[in-house]
Amino acid sequence: MDESSADAVVETRGLTKRYRGGQLAVDALDLTVPRGSVFGFLGPNGSGKTTTIRMLMGLIEPTSGGARLLGLPMPRAARSVLPRVGALIEGPALYPYLSGRDNLLRYDAADPTADPRTRAARAAAALDRVGLGAAAGKKARAYSLGMKQRLGLAAALLQPRELLVLDEPTNGLDPQGMREIRTLVRELAREGTTVFLSSHLLDEIEQVCSHAAVMAQGRLIAQGTVAELAAGSRGRLSVTTPDPADAVRVLKEHGVTDLVVLEERVTGELPTPAPDPADLNAALVRAGVRVRAFGAEGASLEDAFVALTGEGFDVAG
Ligand SMILES: Nc1ncnc2c1ncn2[C@@H]1O[C@H](COP(=O)(O)OP(=O)(O)OP(=O)(O)O)[C@@H](O)[C@H]1O
Ligand SMILES: [Mg+2]
Repeated sequence: MDESSADAVVETRGLTKRYRGGQLAVDALDLTVPRGSVFGFLGPNGSGKTTTIRMLMGLIEPTSGGARLLGLPMPRAARSVLPRVGALIEGPALYPYLSGRDNLLRYDAADPTADPRTRAARAAAALDRVGLGAAAGKKARAYSLGMKQRLGLAAALLQPRELLVLDEPTNGLDPQGMREIRTLVRELAREGTTVFLSSHLLDEIEQVCSHAAVMAQGRLIAQGTVAELAAGSRGRLSVTTPDPADAVRVLKEHGVTDLVVLEERVTGELPTPAPDPADLNAALVRAGVRVRAFGAEGASLEDAFVALTGEGFDVAG
């Protein structure tokens, strides 16, 4: 771990965790999270996301390999690094008999770098930011799963941080709550915080992240900008026509593959680089194909994921 990219906020090299039971949870992970990014750490249940995050935060020791946070080795530099990092990790620990507000005050008091004079104001601001202002006085044991999640997020926001590490931040939230958290994440990124968030929801990553890494069974399958990852798979074309056989012939001539005819609908995979859809449409019309509807869908991260793993989004064994 001597070399590190100057602007990587998180960097791992060969990061590996084998649990005592023998389970290889994270397998030689090389991750690079650029400063200023909203980085999505995507993978199905059991793919090693939380294990990776625990190693990043110095909560568990890697079996081999290493991780740098803000350019410093973890867990060795934990004391100087962790005050600059806010984290929300699976199942935040709460005092059930304290209110949400008092949980935050207690949490903040445990942080030696936190200024007690601004504590109450910072806690109130953090509660407002996550939409818990009205429920701040309620006992944490009476919080719903989504409210607990919001409180955990508020704890991560008590101070301005260079990096936020959020393990499934929208877990347990309703659609409205998920939207709120996505908006908050974008806001934080605009303020200059790098956000590393894990999720098993593809569309969530697509909506909020600039970069992503895809995990499956402890291994990194791909990482890059979301646009790069999506471009790694091809878009699909769909033509509705009463002349499907002619349409297939013309589309084939233009490099479209995997053609499927379903009654009057022909779909196929666009070649890379993708031709201009207008040209394809014109070619069909020139060949006498009566085009009733024509659509070319850009590649999505979901297409890319399926192409990368060759499977759906199932739980790892
Ligand atoms: N403390 C542990 N001891 C033994 N095995 C564990 C432990 N924690 C996790 N594992 C195993 O390691 C693998 C990765 O688990 P991990 O919790 O990191 O996945 P995840 O991607 O966070 O999943 P999820 O989306 O469900 O939160 C799984 O196979 C899991 O069963
Ligand atoms: Mg997890």
